[in-house]
Amino acid sequence: MASHSLSFFRVLLLLFLTTLSERIKGQGVGINYGQIANNLPSPARVAVLLRSLNITRVKLYDADPNVLFSFSNSQVDFMIGLGNEYLQNMSTDPTKAQAWLQQRLEPHISKTRITSIVVGNEIFKTNDHVLIGNLLPAMKSVYAALTNLGLEKQVAVTSAHSLDILQTSYPPSSGSFKEEFIQYLEPLLDFHSQIKSPFLINAYPFFAYKDSPKEVPLEYVLFEPNPGMVDPNTNLHYDNMLFAQVDALYSAIKTLGHTDVEVRISETGWPSKGDENEIGHVSGSGVEGGEVNLAKEGQLTITEKGGDLDVAGL
Ligand SMILES: *[C@@H]1O[C@H](CO)[C@@H](O)[C@H](O)[C@H]1NC(C)=O
Ligand SMILES: *[C@@H]1O[C@H](CO)[C@@H](O)[C@H](O)[C@H]1NC(C)=O
Repeated sequence: MASHSLSFFRVLLLLFLTTLSERIKGQGVGINYGQIANNLPSPARVAVLLRSLNITRVKLYDADPNVLFSFSNSQVDFMIGLGNEYLQNMSTDPTKAQAWLQQRLEPHISKTRITSIVVGNEIFKTNDHVLIGNLLPAMKSVYAALTNLGLEKQVAVTSAHSLDILQTSYPPSSGSFKEEFIQYLEPLLDFHSQIKSPFLINAYPFFAYKDSPKEVPLEYVLFEPNPGMVDPNTNLHYDNMLFAQVDALYSAIKTLGHTDVEVRISETGWPSKGDENEIGHVSGSGVEGGEVNLAKEGQLTITEKGGDLDVAGL
């Protein structure tokens, strides 16, 4: 997808989603705050906007000091990003992680609520095995540096992955990882389990729909009334693809021996305005409206861990 189109996803189409607990309480939404776009409002303006929308969770793709400063003394929880370009240095030299934290996190942590660091974004998608191999060592360096600062309980260390780390996602109970990535995912999941941090997934039912508009019912990806599907192995009924995707990931994680790693959705959404080839885009309502309504109605049916679906959570 063209980068300007990505910005539509990440900026113009604020992706409003709630955590499970908030679904039950019916309050709170999180967004991804991307800055690859034209005519962006200033961070100070965004802070006002988010407050008016009662948004209390934000994920940044970087650790932009202007943004973090603008949210000083706010009630907003931030996930900050540590870009792929840092992974190599940090994997070999833990002092680089220490320096990054001193520069990017320490000046803000007393005033802005930073709850996690997302180390690398969709790293498996690069297919660069050297880079992929650097992910876990870099995460360990960041965790060690946080521990040195006494912040390892306050700030979680994680990474965000694209759903195409999965080989199989249908039916959800057959979810499995791509064979070539298992050697990296096994120790990565062990680390998540050890430090009790969530596994983040960027899950876009939109892409599945875009690739097979004839086979995938629009209602199934848009959280609209539809017959859904039943997983023949578990008899669980899914009436939307997003929850099926999350359960497929839980199944894949289980095949690597873990039932103790929580999955959270770090990105999802639907274009309100897309490229020429991005058919089926909807304006304004769509997934966002659907999920917010769902939140109010408390219809969540995520399985495996008894209902842990957390979106852009902390
Ligand atoms: C934000 O929360 C306040 C207080 O709970 C409520 O009155 C208001 O309607 C909410 N605004 C939006 C946009 O949800
Ligand atoms: C990695 O380390 C080298 C050597 O210190 C430095 O020149 C380079 O800028 C670093 N890369 C990043 C992305 O910080």
